[in-house]
Amino acid sequence: MPGPAPRAASTRQVRAQHVLFMQAVELDITRVDSIRRVAAELIERFPALNVLVNNAGIMPFDDASAAIDDTVAQAIIDTNLLGPVRMTSALIGHLKRQPRAVVLHNTSVLAYVPLAGNAVYSATKAALHAYALSQRFMLRKTSVRVQEIAPPWVDTDLIHQNGDPRAMPPRDFIEQTMRELASDREEVTVEAVRPLRDNPGAGKHAFFNAFNEQLEADPIPVA
Ligand SMILES: NC(=O)c1ccc[n+]([C@@H]2O[C@H](COP(=O)([O-])OP(=O)(O)OC[C@H]3O[C@@H](n4cnc5c(N)ncnc54)[C@H](OP(=O)(O)O)[C@@H]3O)[C@@H](O)[C@H]2O)c1
Repeated sequence: MPGPAPRAASTRQVRAQHVLFMQAVELDITRVDSIRRVAAELIERFPALNVLVNNAGIMPFDDASAAIDDTVAQAIIDTNLLGPVRMTSALIGHLKRQPRAVVLHNTSVLAYVPLAGNAVYSATKAALHAYALSQRFMLRKTSVRVQEIAPPWVDTDLIHQNGDPRAMPPRDFIEQTMRELASDREEVTVEAVRPLRDNPGAGKHAFFNAFNEQLEADPIPVA
């Protein structure tokens, strides 16, 4: 599981590369003190800040048919669900004072069709989707819009980047997603996984079983 050491290194890397208009602040989304400190620093340094992208996530495998390691379950919930809730909460007052603002949540297509071998991860993404719906409703008369990206399997290091042909290359994913985001859609899903997003009510269990049997027969590769 990623820890503070690589995070500090990537923060240093962004700073060292002097990427135009890009600055890095180190945040541990699982820690309330870190969220408060970073939110206060951001508001002070960037008073026109009007976009929050809740992107951090971890995806350890689990086994819901057996005892689940509590530390791992807690880390998944803290990172994927409480992290975005706390981060939004720390910035929402500031965002509402901006003429236009956006909160963007990164969920997953697994919010709609859970991957059985990542039961807690899938549950956190379903919960984040539900939270985004409620938040959008509650903010509908303010200047803050809430958008959700529900990515498919993208070939990143979330599990193990290895060029698996079933995973979408990051470049293609970014290209399609940025196009959709520009359309102001509330929810952005790439074309290839719309059937998973539209996983129908009455047919849900058969669809879910078929999806999981397929991935059990040909699992996601790990490092
Ligand atoms: N790749 C996919 O197939 C896929 C599919 C659906 C949804 N998603 C979602 O997309 C988002 C980005 O994932 P990715 O695919 O780009 O994977 P990734 O390369 O592993 O990126 C995950 C990011 O989350 C950060 N992070 C993890 N724990 C954190 C913490 N406690 N505090 C602050 N940052 C933390 C990581 O920072 P460090 O490197 O510093 O730890 C890293 O930047 C996640 O929410 C993931 O669930 C991905």
